[in-house]
Amino acid sequence: NTVQSVIVAIDGPSGTGKSSTSKAVAAKLGLRYLDTGAQYRAITWWMLSHGVDTDDPAAVASAAGKPVIVSGTDPDHPTITVDGLDAAGPIRTQEVTAKVSAVSAVPEVRTLITDLQRSIAAAAADGIVVEGRDIGTTVLPDADLKVFLTASPEARAARRSGELKGSDVTATREALIRRDAADSSRKTSPLAKAGDAVEVDTTELSLSQVIECVVTLVEEKRAAG
Ligand code: DC
Repeated sequence: NTVQSVIVAIDGPSGTGKSSTSKAVAAKLGLRYLDTGAQYRAITWWMLSHGVDTDDPAAVASAAGKPVIVSGTDPDHPTITVDGLDAAGPIRTQEVTAKVSAVSAVPEVRTLITDLQRSIAAAAADGIVVEGRDIGTTVLPDADLKVFLTASPEARAARRSGELKGSDVTATREALIRRDAADSSRKTSPLAKAGDAVEVDTTELSLSQVIECVVTLVEEKRAAG
């Protein structure tokens, strides 16, 4: 009874339950897990703490190769370090969130991070769930299963403000819509649904329903493949 290795790409905008879903699916199925947004946040955090002007694409491009980003892929205990420092806390600050779209739009940044993501996926012998914005379209176009999660802006803002203590829904909703617009309209590998991705609208679903749905999709792929 050999378990087939399977590569799952989960894309979508923020607040769709992407991270919680991806982690839970990976844990249930014995797969590794990679949060690619955390890597873009990590490089952004490094730029901010090293005085790089994140609004200057040329400055960002020339510094892009300097930080050493390492992602731990255990779904029960994902980790991220930059130059050996634990980055899990600092990458979730408002400051990083406000600048990450600009940094992640720079092609040199995307090339480096995409290469890193591909090598992590290739090293995951038993398979991996990779979540992000461009995984199905650009990073892993040959993934065994591609899922694109969506939800109404209201549902996404409500979920995000539940995560960020003390923030109000209207401000969160506006910031989120701005970030999605930037991520969807950038030139290099924008947020997009791959032609062969399965779209799951999570607006009316609980987290456990979304997890169940994706687990079923993976099992169907495994049975077919
Ligand atoms: O998923 P997140 O909110 O942590 O992602 C942070 C930002 O990183 C997001 O606004 C856009 C960028 N990102 C990206 O450009 N490509 C990815 N595959 C993942 C994230």
